[in-house]
Amino acid sequence: NQLDTLYRQVIMDHYKKPRNKGVLEDSSITVNMNNPTCGDRIRVMMKEENGIITDVKFDGEGCSISMASASMMTQLIKGKDRETAIKLAHRFYDMIQGNETDEDLDLEDAEALQGVSKFPARIKCATLAWKALEKGFKDELNHEE
Ligand code: FES
Ligand code: FES
Repeated sequence: NQLDTLYRQVIMDHYKKPRNKGVLEDSSITVNMNNPTCGDRIRVMMKEENGIITDVKFDGEGCSISMASASMMTQLIKGKDRETAIKLAHRFYDMIQGNETDEDLDLEDAEALQGVSKFPARIKCATLAWKALEKGFKDELNHEE
């Protein structure tokens, strides 16, 4: 239908013109993550200042779903604090799995990825960047202890 077509266009647009793809030279958090089901990998780099993610970039190799999702993620979390970023991640997991949630977070483009819930193998692709984000925060906390 029309909505699916629109969503597919959004995903292809992010895949072909990824936002925030590249290397962040002065990142304070860098995390690598791979999707064990296919071996694709992603690196997420963030710069945190006074509790705010002031900059974020990603690079890596992956399918269109994983790269589009990473691109959207960088747009969504830039300028947010850690807690909000994690909340967004969880909202995103619920959304792509088609779960109801009353949390009112605006995921804009990310809604386009909702279709992946029909293909369980692809959920791992869509969540790859977000899992990396969460791992990055966790690793850092463990490191500080
Ligand atoms: Fe095919 Fe991820 S898009 S398995
Ligand atoms: Fe590997 Fe999607 S097929 S991340």
